[in-house]
Amino acid sequence: MVVRAPWLWRLFRRPLARQFDWLAPRWDQIRTPGHLEPFEVALASIQQPPRRALDLGTGTGAGAQALAKRFPAAEVVGVDLSRAMVDEARRKLPVELEGRVRFEVGDSAALPFADAAFELAALLNMIPFFDELARVIAPGGHAVFSFSNGEATPIYVPPERVRRELARRGFTEFAEFSAGPGTASTARKAGGRR
Ligand SMILES: C[S@@+](CC[C@H](N)C(=O)[O-])C[C@H]1O[C@@H](n2cnc3c(N)ncnc32)[C@H](O)[C@@H]1O
Repeated sequence: MVVRAPWLWRLFRRPLARQFDWLAPRWDQIRTPGHLEPFEVALASIQQPPRRALDLGTGTGAGAQALAKRFPAAEVVGVDLSRAMVDEARRKLPVELEGRVRFEVGDSAALPFADAAFELAALLNMIPFFDELARVIAPGGHAVFSFSNGEATPIYVPPERVRRELARRGFTEFAEFSAGPGTASTARKAGGRR
């Protein structure tokens, strides 16, 4: 609903943050086996390693950690609406990633970052706010979407919709993946160096 009508987000923001605050201590226990598989496959397809990568709706930080491991020179920021999720993500961060990965409380619908601040932004089981997503990705950078249980994922956006929304905002070179129980897709923002 929020993808179709982003202005409704202000009604959902508080209750959703409260719901995820409550879920934070149990989140990792309810993750399904193989939940990162499609995400990893999509990341492996990216040829230009980002210098700065963003994980939107990071939860307990699994996506941010996967980004940092896949791109060992990248600085990674994980953002989540729920303070309790961010606390869990910080607590779980392995020591070896501490200098390169950080977590912030924030809203993906109004990000506290400059235009073109990241070469890659990832959404793992997360509601996309396309205007902000497109704004913070640098020309030539990538957007990565992953849904751990494909169409059965509660927050699922069909790839045709993702393509349509991103194409309108200057993205090209779409690719779709399927791995384990889930699906993923990537898109590249036009411009930048190859
Ligand atoms: C379904 S969980 C996914 C968490 C994690 N990416 C994973 O797959 O394990 C969605 C997460 O997005 C966060 N979230 C929802 N809307 C958000 C928004 N507008 N900005 C930032 N985080 C948001 C929630 O608090 C929650 O932690």
